[in-house]
Amino acid sequence: SKNIVITVDGPAGAGKSTVARRVASELGIPYLDTGALYRALAYILDSRGIPPEEGEDLNRSLRSISVLLEGGRVTVDDVDVTDMIRTPRVDSIASSYSALPSVRDKLLDLQREQALSGGLVADGRDMGTVVFPLAPLKVYLSASEETRADRRWRELREKGEDFPFDSILEDIRRRDRADMDRACSPLRKAADSVLIDSSDMTIDEVVAKIVSIASEVR
Ligand code: C5P
Repeated sequence: SKNIVITVDGPAGAGKSTVARRVASELGIPYLDTGALYRALAYILDSRGIPPEEGEDLNRSLRSISVLLEGGRVTVDDVDVTDMIRTPRVDSIASSYSALPSVRDKLLDLQREQALSGGLVADGRDMGTVVFPLAPLKVYLSASEETRADRRWRELREKGEDFPFDSILEDIRRRDRADMDRACSPLRKAADSVLIDSSDMTIDEVVAKIVSIASEVR
């Protein structure tokens, strides 16, 4: 059904964005990458020298920054940052900024607005628990730490960036811990979500499973 909202949450490197994008395209509905929004804010705040702490500096900046989403591109204050937010630097700072309530608050309406025109597949950390609590299909996509680190290592290597596997594994662990332990909208499995462990599944299999569940949900 074209009006279905599907949420996909889970830890870093579980394959959420690849899977969510494919599910959206198979169902003919839009895809929302909420990680890109947090990355964009982290990138811009970091590059303006605003540290990840609540306070007047942060609030003043957040009030003036405009974040826009258009056709899969993220624009901050008229600058298209889509390609600048996929770096190891942004990987590692995004979770410090995303733990701040005022940062999360800034993005809440923007995320919900994406579902106003009908269906949506949204991926992130708190899609099923906070942003779209009434979504009829919630997926919690996970995979072992080693699998997730290995995928990230391959992804970076394809981009010509050769990082030691252990440092990637450590970064994934640190990020998961930060996302799960924060007080505001922590990463956790929604009680009414379907758990899919993708460690021993191909992307095609995960996509097929979600599309099949979606066809049973009205
Ligand atoms: O999914 P991605 O790795 O692009 O997200 C980057 C970071 O943004 C995550 O580590 C997390 O700290 C934050 N995030 C979040 N809530 C979301 C999506 C992302 O806190 N819904």
